[in-house]
Amino acid sequence: SVPQIQATLRHSSTLKQFSRPWLEPQGSIPKKKFSKLKLPSQSLFNKTIALLFSKRSTRTRLAAETSATLLGGRALFLGKEDIQLGVNESPRDTARVIGGMCQGIFARVGEHEEIEELARHSPVPVLNALSSLWHPTQILADLLTLHEHAYLFEEGGVAPRDDGLTPVFQELRPLTVAYVGDSANVLHDMLVTYPRLGHQLRVASPPQYRAPSEVWKRVEELGCDKSIWWGEDPKEAVKGADVVITDTWISMGQEAEKAERLHAFNGYQVTEEMCREGGANPNWRFMHCLPRKPDEVNDEVFYGPRSLVFPEADNRKWTIMALFDNLFGRWDLTPYQKPTKKEDD
Ligand code: CP
Ligand code: NVA
Repeated sequence: SVPQIQATLRHSSTLKQFSRPWLEPQGSIPKKKFSKLKLPSQSLFNKTIALLFSKRSTRTRLAAETSATLLGGRALFLGKEDIQLGVNESPRDTARVIGGMCQGIFARVGEHEEIEELARHSPVPVLNALSSLWHPTQILADLLTLHEHAYLFEEGGVAPRDDGLTPVFQELRPLTVAYVGDSANVLHDMLVTYPRLGHQLRVASPPQYRAPSEVWKRVEELGCDKSIWWGEDPKEAVKGADVVITDTWISMGQEAEKAERLHAFNGYQVTEEMCREGGANPNWRFMHCLPRKPDEVNDEVFYGPRSLVFPEADNRKWTIMALFDNLFGRWDLTPYQKPTKKEDD
């Protein structure tokens, strides 16, 4: 839900200060929570979160492993070559067995139905680390990055003092966010999140690569469609954009479609020229979940001063850490309640 998203973003920003044990803890966590803790944080002490990954990962895995370490717990990587799942054992039995030994499952799967099945049978919370349809933790990092850079979108805005003591989370004005490229998991989560936080989305993709009906159904249920413009022309999409975002044109598992996709997305590469001609805000910024190929964005933009891609990658850690901390941290005495279907997204 929106309050949960906002709470996670604030919590992750605070954890950045919290993770520097040589500094006084400050920020939005109530002081009485700190008073129960020894620094560095041990909120995941004696807890293990299983990373059940059937696809490659650099950022999500690193974020999960490093943040669990900082919280005093363990993230246990279980790749598809390591365990019995899919070869000798069903998702149902695997979920039950992992859930008997670990406190949570962070799962990266192929088809989205695979994670639904794990969640149906798991006795512990299952978090989506990427599926064919959704990539929710990516959007948390993207939003935190925008909040940290909110001053860039204000007339005469000044960067906040980053001294490890001052919370870096700032309120963000409603933005126009353009997405140019493939309608894949990252975009799908943008579609159900940004409009609910007050932002306008402008999307350009080739017509054959539009969001599947189950995604669009959810977009409509949440009333997000009213804040989304969708067309084919990338220049039209970037009109008035404060932020331009893209993703790979060939997601994991689509390698056989490479030639067809490169052909279909010809003309969708994010460049300075495209954004200038399309009438983006002259101060526009660029984001990308990574990994990136030069097909979808050229080096000038990707490595240039508009690019927020590396702070965005770093923020995978702080937002995943906030999720782990909120869900599994030992100061949270609220019993875990399985979310309803709607809250699941
Ligand atoms: N952005 C992202 O999810 O990266 P990885 O696939 O490397 O985890
Ligand atoms: N759409 C990409 C995202 C990678 C983080 C993929 O699914 O491969």
